[in-house]
Amino acid sequence: MQAETYNYKVVQQFAIMTVIWGIVGMLVGVIIAAQLAFPDLTHGIPWLSYGRLRPLHTNAVIFAFGGSALIGTSYYVVQRTCQTRLFSDKLAAFTFWGWTAIIVLAAITLPLGITTSKEYAELEWPIDLLITIVWVSYAIVFFGTIAKRRVKHIYVANWFYGAFILTIALLHVVNSVEIPVTLTKSYSFYPGAIDAMVQWWYGHNAVGFFLTAGFLGMMYYFVPKQAGRPVYSYRLSVVHFWALISTYMWAGPHHLHYTALPDWTQTMGMVFSLILLAPSWGGMINGIMTLSGAWHKLRTDPILKFLIVSLSFYGMSTFEGPMMSIKTVNALSHYTDWTVGHVHSGALGWVAMVSIGSLYYLIPRLFGRDAMYSTKLVELHFWIATIGVVLYIAAMWIAGVMQGLMWRAVNADGTLTYSFIESVERTYPFYYVRLLGGLLFLTGMLIMAYNTGKTVSDAKAVDDTVPAAA
Ligand code: HEM
Ligand code: HEM
Repeated sequence: MQAETYNYKVVQQFAIMTVIWGIVGMLVGVIIAAQLAFPDLTHGIPWLSYGRLRPLHTNAVIFAFGGSALIGTSYYVVQRTCQTRLFSDKLAAFTFWGWTAIIVLAAITLPLGITTSKEYAELEWPIDLLITIVWVSYAIVFFGTIAKRRVKHIYVANWFYGAFILTIALLHVVNSVEIPVTLTKSYSFYPGAIDAMVQWWYGHNAVGFFLTAGFLGMMYYFVPKQAGRPVYSYRLSVVHFWALISTYMWAGPHHLHYTALPDWTQTMGMVFSLILLAPSWGGMINGIMTLSGAWHKLRTDPILKFLIVSLSFYGMSTFEGPMMSIKTVNALSHYTDWTVGHVHSGALGWVAMVSIGSLYYLIPRLFGRDAMYSTKLVELHFWIATIGVVLYIAAMWIAGVMQGLMWRAVNADGTLTYSFIESVERTYPFYYVRLLGGLLFLTGMLIMAYNTGKTVSDAKAVDDTVPAAA
């Protein structure tokens, strides 16, 4: 009888596409950063306008880059930790091609200006339906694999991936209830303030479950693997899981402070955001402390550097977020570039860096190599990326606080000290620095693509046999 093997093909496909979509999404990020620094850059061509490219950027980095990283790594982790092949090869292949089709449709419709105009849920109703079908298939493959596992225990990384899959299904379906008018236009089912509330319940939990819980699943597998140490505290990981998923759901209204939302919901959002600091830091500490006894590896291992620095950024952004959710702080930060700085300390510092680190672990193993083609290039990538993120977020923090202070400055007679356009003028130097930071981060991704290409082109046979004794 032939031994059972793991399905690595679909993981390989998602891994390679993560690198490609990362480059595409970040390139669009660099273009819109350049548009803010040089407003006439695209000469008023409608489909290259800022308003259309911005959602293309967010969709490409979150769903194409982040989504491919999450689905790919979850397929790898669930097979390895359950010691069994994916539940269905055909369905898994369908999720890859289906997800890719959704991304291509997004890349066509968004520049054409076809949008629901709900942030992070811009895609129109036919694409929403396709997303639902692909996502349900993904859930079947993932949970089907858990159901046929050959080990009794369900490793904690799978809990996080599982929560991410279930919650995103719920969020997508509820937030996308819409009334189609034509094939390319629909209106939200929800009226006014309720629509805003549903949208930010979705938006915030997209951060909590897409950009956080799924990547924590990644962290709980790849950090111990790369460090060669067990998770620091398994008990803490379980407490971390339940505390995190039960708190995130209630924090959404912090996106809608001082709006038409009932006051008590805003206060509730703020309180739950402050509570969220504890589980977030519990997870960060658990990840970083996994290095106990192996700290010396940080000196020489650039993959570990990516993973541990990503956790530091995770800690930073989950400290900053609760602070920004305090109503009086939000009165200053909202509408300014401080928010954009916060977003990218999470998105580049945490999400992108943990994905990059995990991929550097994964790619050689998927293609039968001992290590990436060049460890020196991984090290170079690490430094370029880190400098890039720091330039990006520091520029946005300073710009944001400056804008907030300028807008609220009043003269003795009660008139405004600065006009709005003065704050825009003063922001330009920071936009140049952000552009430089973004360019550096993108350069790092190009180095990664070269290194990956070299690693893959020398692929060898992989031992993908599932261990006999579970
Ligand atoms: C080279 C890297 C990147 C550059 C240069 C870049 C640049 C930008 C720019 C210029 C904006 C618009 C800001 C504004 O409207 O004022 C933006 C928004 C955004 N980006 Fe990026 N980005 C990069 C990478 C990423 C990554 C990897 C992610 C996610 C994983 C991400 C997620 C977002 C999100 C969620 C927003 C919307 C923020 C908001 O509405 O407050 N970005 N980005
Ligand atoms: C404890 C955790 C966190 C809390 C309490 C939190 C809180 C906040 C607050 C108060 C805002 C500003 C809302 C506004 O003024 O409009 C915000 C914006 C945002 N945060 Fe966080 N944050 C947390 C972690 C993160 C992480 C880890 C990421 C990314 C990986 C992230 C991504 C975002 C995004 C994308 C936005 C902008 C949304 C938009 O306006 O389009 N957050 N967050």
